[in-house]
Amino acid sequence: MNRPTLIAPSILSSDFSRLGDEVEAIVAAGADWVHLDVMDGHFVPNITFGPPVIKAIRDRTDKVFDCHLMIAPADPYLAAFAEAGADIITVHAEAGPHLDRSLQTIRALGKKAGVSLNPSTHESAIEHVLDRLDLILVMTVNPGFGGQAFIPAMVDKIRRIKAMIGERPIHIQVDGGVTVETAPLVAKAGADVLVAGSAVFKGGQADAYRANIGAIRQAADLAVGNAA
Ligand code: DX5
Ligand code: ZN
Repeated sequence: MNRPTLIAPSILSSDFSRLGDEVEAIVAAGADWVHLDVMDGHFVPNITFGPPVIKAIRDRTDKVFDCHLMIAPADPYLAAFAEAGADIITVHAEAGPHLDRSLQTIRALGKKAGVSLNPSTHESAIEHVLDRLDLILVMTVNPGFGGQAFIPAMVDKIRRIKAMIGERPIHIQVDGGVTVETAPLVAKAGADVLVAGSAVFKGGQADAYRANIGAIRQAADLAVGNAA
């Protein structure tokens, strides 16, 4: 059996007026991790939330809080995200000149370190930091908004990253436009953590979340030959 596919719903597509309840609902519906999209209106053309909001929902679940920082600079805020309750902190390779230092800082804070690549960034950008990584996040849309269309050219990039990491225990995460249709493509290419926002939260209630998460997981697992 291959590594089981993990599903990380992005709360960006949730009802923010009921954020804590939405976190509980996706966990009850089978979410493995909770994906938290932090945007600064500078690195990406949208603004979301920061450490106080993450701290406010931290006690709603014990699941992994997977923080995707779309902010530049990221380094001055890493400690605040660690203190707010992040388990994984992912920075963008494009967000600063000292990626190696950012990754060292995250691990020194006792957290798992991730790096994200925009669609136009070549995977060679992370070749020399592989041993500092717990996770590589391949953006399959341009970051900033939920509900965008999956960029097919990223499938080959995922395949190349899978080959590049070899036997290292690094998760390959995919974010953007993940649906029942695209999940098999990225799973087959080597992704083992799928972020999904609109495809999980469509329907707007707990029963729908369960069905949506289950369908994405099953589509991915079938594609890589895991028992459904
Ligand atoms: C985009 C965010 C994603 C986003 C995904 O910048 O990083 O996590 O919420 O949304 P969907 O699944 O709707 O493409
Ligand atoms: Zn994200």
